[in-house]
Amino acid sequence: MLLKYSLILALCLAAVAVSNAERARYDNYRVYKVTASNVKELAFLKKMEDSSDSLIFLEGVHDVNNEIEVVVAPHKLPDFLKALEDNGIDYVLIEYNLQAHLDKDDVTQIASRAGGYGWKEYYELDTTYTWLQSLPSSYPGIVTLIEGGKSYEKRSILGVKISYKNGQSQKPGIFLEAGIHAREWIAPATATYIINQLLTSENDTIADLARNYDWYIFPHANPDGYVYTHTTNRLWRKTRQPHGTCYGADPNRNWGFYWNTVGASSNECSDTYAGPNEFSELETLSLSKYIKSLEGKIQLYISFHSYSQYVLYPYGHTNELPGNVEDFDRVFNVTVAAIGQRYGTKYTGGNIYDAIYPAAGASVDWAYANVGTRMSFCLELRPGPNSIITGFRLPAAQIIPTGEETLDGLAAMINEVKTLGYFV
Ligand SMILES: *[C@@H]1O[C@H](CO)[C@@H](O)[C@H](O)[C@H]1NC(C)=O
Ligand SMILES: *[C@@H]1O[C@H](CO)[C@@H](O)[C@H](O)[C@H]1NC(C)=O
Ligand SMILES: [Zn+2]
Repeated sequence: MLLKYSLILALCLAAVAVSNAERARYDNYRVYKVTASNVKELAFLKKMEDSSDSLIFLEGVHDVNNEIEVVVAPHKLPDFLKALEDNGIDYVLIEYNLQAHLDKDDVTQIASRAGGYGWKEYYELDTTYTWLQSLPSSYPGIVTLIEGGKSYEKRSILGVKISYKNGQSQKPGIFLEAGIHAREWIAPATATYIINQLLTSENDTIADLARNYDWYIFPHANPDGYVYTHTTNRLWRKTRQPHGTCYGADPNRNWGFYWNTVGASSNECSDTYAGPNEFSELETLSLSKYIKSLEGKIQLYISFHSYSQYVLYPYGHTNELPGNVEDFDRVFNVTVAAIGQRYGTKYTGGNIYDAIYPAAGASVDWAYANVGTRMSFCLELRPGPNSIITGFRLPAAQIIPTGEETLDGLAAMINEVKTLGYFV
């Protein structure tokens, strides 16, 4: 008996050890704000960003006099601080223990598998996929499941097409992609909120949006990465394909348009690794093929990310403006105004290169240049800029307000795109 119990106990302890070892933890990882006051200091920070994965630069190193948030592994702390001091770079400690914050999320943010589907918590991939799979039978003849190919770990990139059969044989098309960056949980949550509103809202504006357009919506463009943020590392951003000694490429630096020319890394371990070649990731390759198959059927392309509250349009690889920039600007203006109306949420933005930073290989640029979608936008959802620690972890209580204001913005965006004559 005793032996048996000891054995069971030993097995349990072994299991605990394994599961602890597998989940990334950030115990005693500190978070600092650092600021480069000249180009020399900026260059030093860029070098740091690219050379060590014991340091996580949460927003990337782009501008002088801009606060940059860095997560520092405990063993790296002495050298990190010495290097900053040796180079005269200012820093402020803003958090002692990142893990304490992540632990809080685990109990309050993630829905149990047993509950129904809603927008008060964040869901695991399977739960959302089960909900998506239930929609065709709840809305027969209106919702069909679509697949944007497969992920590296052989998951489906599952989406829905919403198309009311109300006489029009072909309606203008709107493509919405979310979750390409794994840790930006508010993006898929907002996409599913919009799916649900399109199908259930009694508001005439929203019902018209559902009835007058063909919608193609993919809440999880990077399913492997999203699963990994639940099982293993909440701050994961990339895909999960192995590259060299590290894993994953940045799927929003991997599209085949001026690929890896600027604002992406060639270091396999970097969070902005562009991949060994364009479309090296199965997710971007297969989704791009699916999008290409819709050529002529979609006129507006939208990509959801977080965070910083930006509305962005092409290009990311150059400060040259797109030919129809004036139209982009008009749509931008009405969208930002509409998003702010309900809760006063303040968005800014513009062309990617100038408004945030150079970044080549993003989906919105590729879609603009390759499939005839002359209107292509990226929305960086809540929270606002400089939301370190909570940036990628927007409280679940904000999913619905974010969904509401984003839908207000999309309604205004679509109306303006229509007025400008793009939906033909
Ligand atoms: C957009 O709004 C800005 C600021 O109000 C204004 O200067 C600009 O002319 C507007 N652009 C267009 C195309 O309406
Ligand atoms: C209907 O929805 C639109 C778009 O989200 C919104 O701007 C408007 O305020 C809503 N109308 C009502 C009566 O709620
Ligand atoms: Zn993103």
